[in-house]
Amino acid sequence: MVHNILSYLNKLMSNGSAYLRPDTALRQSCPANRHTTTLNFKLLTFNRRPATGNWQLATILVVTTLLSAAAQDNKGLKDYYAGYFPMGVAVSPQVLKGPEAELIRKHFNSLTAENAMKMGPIHPEEGRYNWAPADAIVNFAQENGMRMRGHTLCWHNQTPDWLFVDKDGKTVSKEVLLQRLKAHITEVVTRYKGKIYAWDVVNEVIDDNDSKFYRDSKWYSICGEDFIAKAFQYAHEADPDALLFYNDYNTESPGKRDRIHQMVTALIDKGVPIHGIGLQGHWSIYEPSERELRFSIDKFAALGLKVQITELDVSVYPLEHSRREPRPDEPNKFTPEMEQKQITQYGMIFRVLRNYKDSVTGVTFWNVSDKHSWLDSFPVRDRKNYPLLFDQNLQPKKAYWKVVKF
Ligand code: GLA
Repeated sequence: MVHNILSYLNKLMSNGSAYLRPDTALRQSCPANRHTTTLNFKLLTFNRRPATGNWQLATILVVTTLLSAAAQDNKGLKDYYAGYFPMGVAVSPQVLKGPEAELIRKHFNSLTAENAMKMGPIHPEEGRYNWAPADAIVNFAQENGMRMRGHTLCWHNQTPDWLFVDKDGKTVSKEVLLQRLKAHITEVVTRYKGKIYAWDVVNEVIDDNDSKFYRDSKWYSICGEDFIAKAFQYAHEADPDALLFYNDYNTESPGKRDRIHQMVTALIDKGVPIHGIGLQGHWSIYEPSERELRFSIDKFAALGLKVQITELDVSVYPLEHSRREPRPDEPNKFTPEMEQKQITQYGMIFRVLRNYKDSVTGVTFWNVSDKHSWLDSFPVRDRKNYPLLFDQNLQPKKAYWKVVKF
């Protein structure tokens, strides 16, 4: 688009038939620059060159301004962060068309499937896989030269019921469950081998409660902790080149951070193929503090692991991890106070992440814009949240400018 305008102008100007003259009569606002300048210009077409040479100068000035505005407008998040880390976003196949797809192409160079690769959606019955939604996302990434993260191979949520029971409805043995896990991981990882560079292999197995260690899930009650190492091993066998991550939330809470660290250290000591840690980054305008965030990155990077922020959003409410009903006094509005706190928090987060660019190898936002976020229905049903960098009309928020102007 910018190219077209410029080559058209060039053509007109080189044959002496057009000049740009600053003109207050026509106010045209240039979208990229709306935060700084309003350009006033008029394209004049002449049959012959005007007498005064000043117009030449005006032409150059306006074209230069136009050029730099247009160049800015063309830059997306991924371009501002080109020297730092890939910028990703979690998507459903539905957002890969129309204006959201355009926004994704402009700002992101990495994708994660929000739901399509989770065990329930992709493997609803034993031996039957639902590939179409996941394929659509992988194809979009390939067509647009984007990286693709796989999410997630083993989790306690969105897991199909058939997995844990036999045909009579009785709980399966550890051997059967591990064999099913292996079949699942082998099939899914092999299908996308060479197209998915990193997998969240195991998700959220550590308990939030400081008096416990592992989460009490069906995986854990049937297999004990062994399923964790096995999942990494199966994924590595299926694609030895893929980077394998453990992924969790609340990773800046000291107790949970220590437990994750302890588990991951034990995996590394046993020679389990684990290469990275996903800090989900479901944060809020109130937390984490800069100190805790730095501490988490330091602690995991010191193990020689790559660190990625895998599910970033900054809720405008205090963090809660259990579902509850709405309270009558709960606001649904994005207040100026929330906005200001969110700008500050996003500014802090990205300042820290830039500082750690040698350890942080990717940042992924969880959803595209405030038009839709999973936080609109979690933890409180029908409470609108505004956690992302683009607003409900897909326009960059002030927090976006804070993140890209550094
Ligand atoms: C967890 C999971 C994600 C997603 C979010 C909520 O963080 O890892 O896949 O389900 O919860 O959307």
